[in-house]
Amino acid sequence: MLRKRLRKSGKEALMFDLSDDEILSLSKEHVFYTWSAQAKVNPIAVKRAKGVYFWDVDDRRYLDFNSMTMCVNIGHGDERVIKAMQDQAAELSYAAPGMTTKVRALASKMVAEITPRQALTKVLFTLGGADANENAIKLARGYTGRHKILTRYRSYHGATAGAMAATGDPRRVVWEPNLMTGVVHFLDPYRYRSTFHRTNPDLPEAEFARDYLNHLEEIIQYEGPGTIAAILMESVTGTNGIIIPPEGYMQGVRALCDKYGIVMISDEVMSGFGRTGKWFAVEHWDVLPDMITMAKGLTSAYAPLGAVAMKPGIAAAFNETPFESGLTYTSHPVSLAAAVANINVMREDQIVQRAAGMGPVLKRLLTDLGEAHPSVGEVRSIGLFGIVELVKDRKTKEPMAPWNESSPEMIALKKYCLDNGLFLYTHWHTVLIIPPLIISQEQLEEGFKILDKALEFTDQAVK
Ligand SMILES: Cc1ncc(COP(=O)(O)O)c(C=O)c1O
Repeated sequence: MLRKRLRKSGKEALMFDLSDDEILSLSKEHVFYTWSAQAKVNPIAVKRAKGVYFWDVDDRRYLDFNSMTMCVNIGHGDERVIKAMQDQAAELSYAAPGMTTKVRALASKMVAEITPRQALTKVLFTLGGADANENAIKLARGYTGRHKILTRYRSYHGATAGAMAATGDPRRVVWEPNLMTGVVHFLDPYRYRSTFHRTNPDLPEAEFARDYLNHLEEIIQYEGPGTIAAILMESVTGTNGIIIPPEGYMQGVRALCDKYGIVMISDEVMSGFGRTGKWFAVEHWDVLPDMITMAKGLTSAYAPLGAVAMKPGIAAAFNETPFESGLTYTSHPVSLAAAVANINVMREDQIVQRAAGMGPVLKRLLTDLGEAHPSVGEVRSIGLFGIVELVKDRKTKEPMAPWNESSPEMIALKKYCLDNGLFLYTHWHTVLIIPPLIISQEQLEEGFKILDKALEFTDQAVK
């Protein structure tokens, strides 16, 4: 039952309130959940969050090892961002796309400033990551006059029809064939399960990178270089395995794009905003893409926002010809206020440097975990972007869950973590470690203690 409550805060505002024990039942009755079989959803009813923790309605505390949806980069409940949003909502809560505002001018300048070499000087704001990628694809097609988009199999680029077509992983397959046409996929430089190097695992990194670049160039040739508008890649692959490109790979992709007049788009929706210890992951290889798409850490999820930052030359292609696309909520002032405040917080608190500094701590914890547990096949990390790959057999690398499925062991592991106050993301046979970037060494260790115990479930399945 809905209960009206009058709140006294200077002016009296009318609020609808609900008792905590009604939240779950009402949600189950009325909410349609994404990525879920509706009969099976059992959501955590979250009440409040602060720093690296959140609490449910029963006041149970969870350590957030996934930054909610890999997005709360500066941590929960930062008053500086909340205040900026409140002030913006009070001053001007919306302006039409064709207008401009103080916060729009400021946010676009600040985003341009943090791009590599400050070179992506034009910014198109979207609502999230999927539509950032959709718009980047349109921009690349308009700019080149070409149609095809090359992306990798182990990629996720969003759930709208174009972004889903670009996605390589099985989330795309269920929607086929009714997706955007023109996407061609290629293989990822995924060393642990490299198709090309099963019998040659000790190949030098440079040769490994070369093989995958040759594979990409072969595909470019087969498809016809003159038909390819863009290569769109996650700089460090997120949910599909924290795949960190080998040295030389990113530079090689850039060179191929230059050679064939292809636009290079870096999807930094998950890997951006300090996650890897740099503002954007491409900076690890000193590569300048033609466009960067971003979302998540752009506002640390205090409000929905995505963006495409592009070289001025791409934008100039639309100087005389209109860009035939738009969004009612592009540059929403409250979201932009969150972005401006979030970037300021990241600068003031040196969040990117903190993530870089904590990277070796995470690496050590992951390595120790790998040494202690026979079910750990490999661990990988860069900055505070980490993964544990679980296997039934280290020699054959048989995954702890089949491709695109879970398994009783993975379910038990996740349940143990949740029951013990550790919130993390498991994907098939992997466990992702993607905490808020403000996490301390003690808090990381606190989570790893729970994970260490949880891995007993997967260790039992080792052959
Ligand atoms: C790399 C990457 N690109 C795009 C997206 C889509 O972003 P959104 O869910 O905001 O549409 C995601 C979301 O997880 C992502 O990880």
